[in-house]
Amino acid sequence: MSKTIIITGGAGFIGSHLVRLFVNKYPQYTIINLDALTYAGNLENTRDIEEKSNYIFEKANILDAPQLEKIFSKYNPDGVIHLAAESHVDRSILSPLDFVYTNVIGTVNLLNACKTLWGQSGNYEGKRFYHVSTDEVYGALGDTGFFTESTKYDPHSPYSASKASSDHFVRAYHDTYGLPIVISNCSNNYGPNHFPEKLIPLFINNCLNKKPLPVYGDGLYTRDWLFVKDHATAIDAAFHHGKNGDTYNIGGFNEWRNIDLVKLLCKLVDEKSGRPAGESEQLITYVKDRPGHDRRYAIDASKINKELGWKPSVTFEEGLSQTIDWYLANTEWLNHIVSGEYQAYYSLQYNR
Ligand code: NAD
Ligand code: TYD
Repeated sequence: MSKTIIITGGAGFIGSHLVRLFVNKYPQYTIINLDALTYAGNLENTRDIEEKSNYIFEKANILDAPQLEKIFSKYNPDGVIHLAAESHVDRSILSPLDFVYTNVIGTVNLLNACKTLWGQSGNYEGKRFYHVSTDEVYGALGDTGFFTESTKYDPHSPYSASKASSDHFVRAYHDTYGLPIVISNCSNNYGPNHFPEKLIPLFINNCLNKKPLPVYGDGLYTRDWLFVKDHATAIDAAFHHGKNGDTYNIGGFNEWRNIDLVKLLCKLVDEKSGRPAGESEQLITYVKDRPGHDRRYAIDASKINKELGWKPSVTFEEGLSQTIDWYLANTEWLNHIVSGEYQAYYSLQYNR
């Protein structure tokens, strides 16, 4: 069946993998990538699909409600998959209002655009607003336990507070106006095209350039890592087969303490770039902790596994190895980001 789907944030990290998956897997769909191209948006991420006949790029800001209305009436989408966001915790500590604008108000603008367009026909048959969210809305865990879909929201950073708020608005539009929605809350992603401000791509880039690897606090913070292409297949499953109004947690049952992950990353970079064993580890530098730093995240992804049959396709070692290979083969992409027009944003990073 043909469908028109707007994917917001499709020039970013996860969005570009999702757009590619949909454009290639569903040639009968029209995929509109709606993105403002902020510092994190990069059309190099979608270069390989831009000539496909079922792909359209629309440069638009989700804060511009009249522009959204025009785009929605032009394309008359059946579905929206919403990823556009400010996504970095450290930036949210420096500039929380940007997160309120994009993540909260931008999301409400999109909900309004859907409600206006789809409400005209008086029935929401075949329509769906899919909201891509994070496990960080659940707060922090101690040494044991997992976040489930019924874990109470308890966000700590301005980033997670803004995502929690947007999740609540999406549910409110479902409960109040009957808008068909699905939400997924995913753990930390990694993979190709990841902007080098987050732990894994920053550390790969710093290793390659023999710069210090700034480990926050004691390095014993724990994250649950998922390969970005596996996140994209999970969204595909939940967008098409998830239950209206429902939430799905997405994760790989793959917890790593930061310091252990960083040591593995250093070992792989040394092996792949022909350096003496142990050379990159010398770059590890413990720095001041992030304020409000959540100790541990871990997702219970059994619901999406049991109900939709989704599971990750790669182990962490395979995914990390593929990721490092990609960065080694795409130094032009990386250099472009850390120089020129991106420099001002890149150097804004917290703690450096
Ligand atoms: P990203 O920062 O790489 O990309 C965000 C994209 O959104 C960029 O292309 C940017 O240009 C666009 N954008 C930002 N503000 C916009 C605006 N006002 N209007 C239109 N476009 C705008 O982010 P990401 O890591 O790919 O994350 C995508 C989504 O997934 C986010 O909603 C994030 O909260 C969620 N998420 C991310 C992770 C992760 O580990 N990265 C994990 C779980 C959930
Ligand atoms: P990050 O990639 O920013 O993702 P999030 O904060 O959304 O989980 O950080 C992952 C973990 O790595 C987190 O515990 C913070 C830590 N970290 C560092 O120790 N040093 C760094 O330079 C960065 C960016 C993160």
